[in-house]
Amino acid sequence: MTKEDHFKKLVAHCKEHGFVFPSSEIYDGLGAVYDYGQLGVELKNNIKRYWWESMVRLHDNVVGLDSAIFMHPTVWKASGHVDAFNDPMIDNKDSKKRYRVDVLIEEQIDKYDEQIEREIEKAAALPGDEFNEIIFRHTDPRVREYTKRRDELSIRLSQALQDDDFDHLRQIIIDNKIVCPVSGTCNWTEVRQFNLMFATEMGFAAEGSNKIFLRPETAQGIFVNFLNVQKSGRMKIPFGIAQVGKAFRNEIVARQFIFRMREFEQMEMQFFVRPGTELEWFNHWKESRMKWHRALGFNAGDYRFHDHEKLAHYANAATDIEYRFPFGFKEVEGIHSRTDFDLRRHQEFSGKKIQYFDPELNESFTPHVVETSIGLDRMFLQVISAAYYEDEVIKKKSSTAKETRVVLGLPPALAPVKLAVMPLVKKNGLPEKATEILDQLRFDFNCQYDDKDSIGRRYRRQDAIGTPFCITVDYSTLTDNNVTIRYRDSMQQERVDVEDLPAFLKEKTDMKTLLRQLY
Ligand code: GAP
Repeated sequence: MTKEDHFKKLVAHCKEHGFVFPSSEIYDGLGAVYDYGQLGVELKNNIKRYWWESMVRLHDNVVGLDSAIFMHPTVWKASGHVDAFNDPMIDNKDSKKRYRVDVLIEEQIDKYDEQIEREIEKAAALPGDEFNEIIFRHTDPRVREYTKRRDELSIRLSQALQDDDFDHLRQIIIDNKIVCPVSGTCNWTEVRQFNLMFATEMGFAAEGSNKIFLRPETAQGIFVNFLNVQKSGRMKIPFGIAQVGKAFRNEIVARQFIFRMREFEQMEMQFFVRPGTELEWFNHWKESRMKWHRALGFNAGDYRFHDHEKLAHYANAATDIEYRFPFGFKEVEGIHSRTDFDLRRHQEFSGKKIQYFDPELNESFTPHVVETSIGLDRMFLQVISAAYYEDEVIKKKSSTAKETRVVLGLPPALAPVKLAVMPLVKKNGLPEKATEILDQLRFDFNCQYDDKDSIGRRYRRQDAIGTPFCITVDYSTLTDNNVTIRYRDSMQQERVDVEDLPAFLKEKTDMKTLLRQLY
């Protein structure tokens, strides 16, 4: 299966099984806006809980916040979003479509990567001596040529972005013959800047209406509440404030499903530290956040850091945690050392003193900030991309015929449904016994009851939504109170006493199993 097919299947799977739906679908949808269905909301809530509990519960010095989406308009002047939250855009004159220039160029870089991968796959599949990928990469003329072009392109892109050189950006597009995906032509306008914030109005015209913005990040709600939290919570530096909430960006290039949305959720934590210690804390959070990702147990080689060469003017270090999505390595989370920029700007624009008195140093200062910022929807996509797979299984015990089973190999703590309870048949007291078991477990675990179709088909349905365990209630259950428990990944089965089920499920599916790895 090609990566493109894999991704298409994943998107279709999300819709078919109630994870993600296009927004307002009966009206043909709304660009880059999505709704989470009955299982999607459970998975999303579990990811949110994993983040929140690892941040707030496991750290004595990190507390939570839930600030409003609407904020005073000056907040966005102070933060720099009014003047600088822009992306360089280019329009295709034939299709009239607008694109983010860096995304267009990065897609061309991805194409070179795909060509390289294809050459390697082809060569590896040839019969003969053992294939050595490293030697092949260094010697094959085609791979060397693609690698050269890709490297040149990436150097030119980072140089042009660093210099804010729009003519150079346009020239890169022309030189590389990058065409509009819709019209297929290279008929481009000049490159221009567009602000990404959504604006609306607060109050009625008679009151004198005010233009306000839908927040493009949750972080500013944390900065403006720094003193409130620090004073009311008697917080001592270093400490952090964590928040999960909606953010809005008028993304021009909205593709790749829920990767880049116009309405999305962020999970952000601002960590306030003494000036001069921020790089130490930056390294601390960099490692700590990677550990959080890896604890989920997906392939470790699919994660990497991407340290920024071009830093925002207020940052003195920045890195992204990237994941190998079906469409290539992309950012899931950003970790930034933001210096004292935001607090200083809010002090300047509000006229209020925003400082911390350090009793140990006996001095006041503006704290420096290390931020960890991850998109909840993007994390959802990462988890579901990593979890989705297909394998071939024997159709029936009595035959050798095979069928494809689609599985979401979700970490049990994140799975929307922890257990499916299935009576072997719909008669002779089995449904009643199954319901009795379900009624005992439902208070602690999200369970499903399923009595339709053959057991095999019921297993497939649960595999497809990532349910880690299924139990079958059969005639023996009525006499020995044991059920057959079936493991999603290995498909192995064992008999378990009904009385032991709560402890079994707790041990296997509790969020604690993930959190313990971090503590
Ligand atoms: N406060 C810092 C900040 O907002 P960012 O790199 O712009 O930094 C942080 O965003 C994270 O938010 C990203 O790593 C990504 O996971 C998520 N994110 C940003 N824009 C997004 C979008 N349009 N759709 C979905 N997630 C997005």
